[in-house]
Amino acid sequence: MDDTRIILSAKDIPHAWYNLASDLPQPIPPHRHPMTGQPVTPDDMKPIFPDALIMQEVSTERWIEIPGPVREKLAIWRPTPLVRAIQLERHLKTPARIYYKNEGVSPPGSHKPNTAIAQAYYNKQAGIKRIATETGAGQWGSSLAFACDLFGLECKVYMVRVSYEQKPYRRSLMQLWGATCVASPSKDTNAGRAILAKDPNTTGSLGIAISEAVEDAATHDNTNYSLGSVLNHVCMQQSVIGLEVKKQLALAEETPDIMIGCAGGGSNLAGLIFPFVKDTLDGHGPKLIAVEPSACPSLTRGKYAYDFGDTAGMAPLAAMFTLGHSFVPAGIHAGGLRYHGMAPSVSLLHKLKVLDAVAVHQNAAFEAGVMFARTEGICPAPETNHAIRVAIDEAIKCRETRQEKCIVFNFSGHGHFDLGAYDNYLTGKLEDFELPQANIDNALKELPANAPAL
Ligand SMILES: Cc1ncc(COP(=O)(O)O)c(C=O)c1O
Repeated sequence: MDDTRIILSAKDIPHAWYNLASDLPQPIPPHRHPMTGQPVTPDDMKPIFPDALIMQEVSTERWIEIPGPVREKLAIWRPTPLVRAIQLERHLKTPARIYYKNEGVSPPGSHKPNTAIAQAYYNKQAGIKRIATETGAGQWGSSLAFACDLFGLECKVYMVRVSYEQKPYRRSLMQLWGATCVASPSKDTNAGRAILAKDPNTTGSLGIAISEAVEDAATHDNTNYSLGSVLNHVCMQQSVIGLEVKKQLALAEETPDIMIGCAGGGSNLAGLIFPFVKDTLDGHGPKLIAVEPSACPSLTRGKYAYDFGDTAGMAPLAAMFTLGHSFVPAGIHAGGLRYHGMAPSVSLLHKLKVLDAVAVHQNAAFEAGVMFARTEGICPAPETNHAIRVAIDEAIKCRETRQEKCIVFNFSGHGHFDLGAYDNYLTGKLEDFELPQANIDNALKELPANAPAL
């Protein structure tokens, strides 16, 4: 029997993060100040981020060393396995070889602690005592709670209300790791109170929760803000995923033809594909695909423009594919994909046509997740189901064209806290939301006027 799991040892955990900015044919447009529209300076970012992360945000160095204490904590669960989904291949009767990188083996259950550990470390080094953040699915909040606990920091998490209600045990997990978690919008911030006054029954959104966390950090002593996706340093810190995959594919004597990740803010996709992008830019790399929900289709239906990173307009303007910062997506179960924008680095790749994008409805995503669970055994997160859907679709195409392609997707997280969503799917209660164009057009009318066109 052939090995289906390609396992590395702790010494294979990368020693440096790969910074895609060093290899892009044009720079990622700078973030801009939300009030003035001018490029943000490191000084502008100092009230909420430590210097080391600010430097990483603007760096164009190709490699940035991973500090020893960060590698030591990553070694709690890294390197993660690359697994050949042989049972799924057989079920699909495809000649394609399907591999998944299992980021679901981390203690919180996803790729998110790869950056949470680094961010907590740099904040600790800078003398910060407390970190505020938002969470959609709860995976990021749990990851930051875990990382803060490892480094002895306090942690306050604003969790998007619809997810808070869908999966209360994510809150329990955050509390287990010593964090405080409230439903967002909350009464704890001006931003939250203002939104509750307008719409007391709002489902909340990542954009709203970010506004709350940024306000919290800006108004509390010794408190910084931490973001689980979107920013350049976050995407870069996820590159440990793709760097390990490179080694693992080499061991399996494979060259990837197609690489796939689901995309909310873009960080797990970035982590998987960034170390392969240079090859694709040079014309001999894999086809790269981002998968997003049809209910929140920033890459496939959004506009490439400067927009606020949050709903209240407090976070910097980012150059990204956006649905408009006031866009509130339908309450789909993939809470981590309910973000109005997309990482500037990932957006630029799509703009440069290096990265394709596909949108899928949640029933189609869950159908794929259930097929994965019934063949490979693991229950995927609803976000991850989006990537699995497209991996399956590509494998089916291979069956029809008899092509033996190598397909690699990022298994961004497990769905053990999402069984309520699976219950809904299995009992036929899951709805697909058709997103009217007017919802996007209306939100795009509110794009900031003080930034240059892209
Ligand atoms: C399991 C999982 N996958 C994917 C995502 C989407 O985030 P990103 O696009 O930053 O990877 C999330 C976000 O919460 C998540 O929890």
